[in-house]
Amino acid sequence: MSFPTQRPRRLRRTAALRRLVAETSLRVDDLVAPLFVREDIDNPQPIASLPGVVQHSRASVRKEVRRLVDLCVPAVILFGVPARKDATGSEAWNPDGVIQAALRDLRDDVGDELVLMADLCLDEYTDHGHCGVLTPTGAVDNDATLELYARIAVAQADAGAAVVAPSGMMDGQVGAIRAALDGAGHTDTVILAYSAKYATALYGPFRDAVDVKIVGGGDRRAYQQNPTNVRESLREVRLDIDEGADMVMVKPALAHLDVIAAVRAEVDVPVAAYHVSGEYSMIKAAAANGWIDGDAVALEHLGAIKRAGADIILTYLAAEVAEQLG
Ligand code: PBG
Repeated sequence: MSFPTQRPRRLRRTAALRRLVAETSLRVDDLVAPLFVREDIDNPQPIASLPGVVQHSRASVRKEVRRLVDLCVPAVILFGVPARKDATGSEAWNPDGVIQAALRDLRDDVGDELVLMADLCLDEYTDHGHCGVLTPTGAVDNDATLELYARIAVAQADAGAAVVAPSGMMDGQVGAIRAALDGAGHTDTVILAYSAKYATALYGPFRDAVDVKIVGGGDRRAYQQNPTNVRESLREVRLDIDEGADMVMVKPALAHLDVIAAVRAEVDVPVAAYHVSGEYSMIKAAAANGWIDGDAVALEHLGAIKRAGADIILTYLAAEVAEQLG
């Protein structure tokens, strides 16, 4: 009988040894909490497909952000649910629109204690649910949409956004937004580009949260990427950095860990990953059935996203994970 000389298990024997040799540690500092703010409501509204997440009122989002500051979560990203939608999504750049009002409140409340990010897109604001304006034949008009994104960027920065995060996957969106911000004197406003954003069924619960139904049962495959591509993502990332992106994002996260790793190897800017609504809901649904330990799976998933190379993780788990990590 010969005994193994190589014994990796030696390093796993005690909790302290395991801590000492851990290769990846998830930190509260890595997390961004997505928050939904709905116009014209007095009380927060639950979202059935996102248990534990709510549509905030203007008042309740202030309380939630204060709680996140106390938990040392460094950033939030805001999504608006306007009372009125139209063909161009004009509420998105209204200086008194729901997100601009919330940004001003939060800037007053927390200043630079926390990074205020604003998702920059039109789908929550258009009555047809697409991320841009439509041509007469119903296609999304790339270049006409860029002009509207430029207006939204300036409105969000004027209201106090430190970071704008374009998520519409229009060609040239980062360049158009950078030019508009600079032209308005917002040279310090950061752009976090949703560079590699895939057309996935995992955004379903988010669309419930922002009350979006795409007209005619349509989809976003003419602007978001095919989930099985990767070279295309690297091209998108390179273009966004050339246009002035300060940080880039891959979204969703778990099915695209290889993409996160490839992007991390290719660029020097911070890389973010979005653990999206469907990824969150799958954990919550299985945990509610008693089929998995949701807290443990949450840490495993976010840890794997970090290991793949993400510096920043947008996740609906931010507050509870911050509580778990203490
Ligand atoms: C578009 C946007 C979406 C998400 C973030 N920004 C939805 C979409 O592209 O349809 C999805 C986020 C999630 O699923 O958690 N404004």
